[in-house]
Amino acid sequence: MEVRLEDVWFSYDGRRYVLRSVNVEFKGRGLHVVMGPNGSGKTTLLKIVSLIYKPTRGSVVVDGRGYWDLGPGERDSIRQHIVYVHDKPIILRGDVWYNVSLGLRLKGSDSYDYLEELVERYGVSELLRSSSRSLSAGQRRLISIIRALALKPRVLVLDEPFNHLDSSRVRMLVEDLTSMAGSSLVVVATHYMVRELMGSATRLYELVDGSLREQG
Ligand SMILES: Nc1ncnc2c1ncn2[C@@H]1O[C@H](COP(=O)(O)OP(=O)(O)O)[C@@H](O)[C@H]1O
Ligand SMILES: [Mg+2]
Repeated sequence: MEVRLEDVWFSYDGRRYVLRSVNVEFKGRGLHVVMGPNGSGKTTLLKIVSLIYKPTRGSVVVDGRGYWDLGPGERDSIRQHIVYVHDKPIILRGDVWYNVSLGLRLKGSDSYDYLEELVERYGVSELLRSSSRSLSAGQRRLISIIRALALKPRVLVLDEPFNHLDSSRVRMLVEDLTSMAGSSLVVVATHYMVRELMGSATRLYELVDGSLREQG
């Protein structure tokens, strides 16, 4: 799946633009990393890429068609291939297994092998029957990321996925995102550069005051 932003502007209040003429093309595969300081517009940009926010001006073109000009049915069929992982992990009441398997359950999937592998590898197995309320910030983030990875979506968008993760989990995550980027489009926003990402990113972008620039 290919997502292209054409002259995208975004304003929350109709006065100040937090994205200013963003032009970028995310091809069907690869690991795209958007860096930038707090408040530079990364979360806003990612929500536009994920088809959650409609740009104030400009177009979001998905596989050659202007997404916001499509009817609700066509939008839904595109939207279902895109998974967005919020910077604040969304964790529901219930235990950890309930939370990590939620995505697959909603999708009606019965292939849990990859999820089980992820749970094992990220060291979450011991926690599966624990209440989600007892989790640390890093554990909450891992749960939200594992839930998304398990879906193997065509487009995976992650906002600040490295916050609160220890260095070995960061390394694992970069490896998993890199391998997923072999067949999917993966877009990551981060306010600090994770060293492991430098070598793995297909493309690096910097967002400064709402303007996006590709890094050489
Ligand atoms: N819901 C909102 N309402 C109004 N302003 C917002 C909202 N969300 C973000 N902003 C503003 O938009 C700008 C960009 O924010 P954001 O996209 O969250 O940046 P980043 O993720 O890079 O920190 C900031 O100035 C922020 O204050
Ligand atoms: Mg943000």
